Amino acid sequence: MASQQKKITTRTAAAVTKAGASNQKTLIKNSNSLLLGSNFKIGKKIGSGNFGEVRLGKNVVTNEDVAIKTESASAKIPQLIFEYQFYRLIGATDKSHTMEGIPKVYYYGLAENRCNALVLELLGPTLEDLFKICDRNFTMKTIFMIAINTLHRIEIVHDKGIVYRDVKPENFVIGRHKMKKDNLIYIIDFGLAKEYIDQKTKKHIPYREKKNLVGTARYMSINTHLGKEQSRRDDLEALGHMYMYLARGNLPWQGLKAPNSKERFHKIGEMKRNIPISKLCEGYPEIAEYLHYARRLEFNENPDYIYMRNIFIDSLKLKGLADDRQFDWLEKVVSMFFLCLELSSLVLNLVEDQVVGEKILSWQCILDCWFSWFYLAIFY
Ligand SMILES: Nc1ncnc2c1ncn2[C@@H]1O[C@H](COP(=O)(O)OP(=O)(O)OP(=O)(O)O)[C@@H](O)[C@H]1O
Ligand SMILES: [Mg+2]
Repeated sequence: MASQQKKITTRTAAAVTKAGASNQKTLIKNSNSLLLGSNFKIGKKIGSGNFGEVRLGKNVVTNEDVAIKTESASAKIPQLIFEYQFYRLIGATDKSHTMEGIPKVYYYGLAENRCNALVLELLGPTLEDLFKICDRNFTMKTIFMIAINTLHRIEIVHDKGIVYRDVKPENFVIGRHKMKKDNLIYIIDFGLAKEYIDQKTKKHIPYREKKNLVGTARYMSINTHLGKEQSRRDDLEALGHMYMYLARGNLPWQGLKAPNSKERFHKIGEMKRNIPISKLCEGYPEIAEYLHYARRLEFNENPDYIYMRNIFIDSLKLKGLADDRQFDWLEKVVSMFFLCLELSSLVLNLVEDQVVGEKILSWQCILDCWFSWFYLAIFY
């Protein structure tokens, strides 16, 4: 669904560059769908990432639609089990969990097709999708509300002793319109997360250097480029880069050419270091103030989340606005919904016969891409 940026990750020592309600029944055919545990059936692909894919699913007992993230059980660097454990640590697997913007996690296990599978609450489009839907132009109000809300999410994660390490617009999604959650931003994808508080000693992990790059080059902090161990400050700086990406529509270090990825990442880091914050954030003094603060944080310093959120809350107040969660996309999704619905009816017959696990025909790849949008129309 979302355009996927190349992600750089390490779990090992080596760096790896890494149509309406009635139609739902036809999308997840009882006879063809793969089984997962005793409650879930796996349906069509709705998203993909560097480590596997995300499929539509259904809880056959409650009839609830879910999202199922899968990974080959023979993956050299298994990731999904860690992701499940991080969700558990945050409390997302608790049935009673009510933390805003953290998806409910229902199940982890091995599916019929020998894939590891993680069952999550089904959510809506990513911030990157929504940015495109809004012609890559968000109002200042929406950008500041995104800042306030994503800072809340990252604070929850940090509060549980976890550093996220993968800030990017593709990893923040909104809830579903049907559930009246399209004004709520969720954080997903804990594939690169790490504990910064040692479970045994309850102490902050030690400062280290010469670490491999982990994250997405476009957004990662300057210190991550320099090989320093990531901590809370790096998530916060990466968020600042993401806010500027959404404010400007791009970042100055996009599209740099180099003979190989290593040199390109080095160039990106250098450019981040050399551009003064005032120039990077021209026209956005609030984001400049935020970025100054994030970049000055010490490795194990406790960030002042209230101060950071207040930069944006106070600025909204001064403009006579408030964080009422009336995001720009709330108007746009209505037109998108009808467009997708129209397209859906044209190719519905082709899509509904596709079986999970079947060899995908080349034209179906195009359909796959289209299906992401179709999914939005049907399930959103
Ligand atoms: N619960 C969900 N509901 C709806 N869509 C989802 C859900 N989880 C993930 N997706 C979609 O699938 C995409 C990939 O998911 P995710 O980021 O978890 O996978 P990944 O392999 O770790 O990706 P990457 O490595 O590229 O960041 C997301 O960007 C989003 O579009
Ligand atoms: Mg992701």
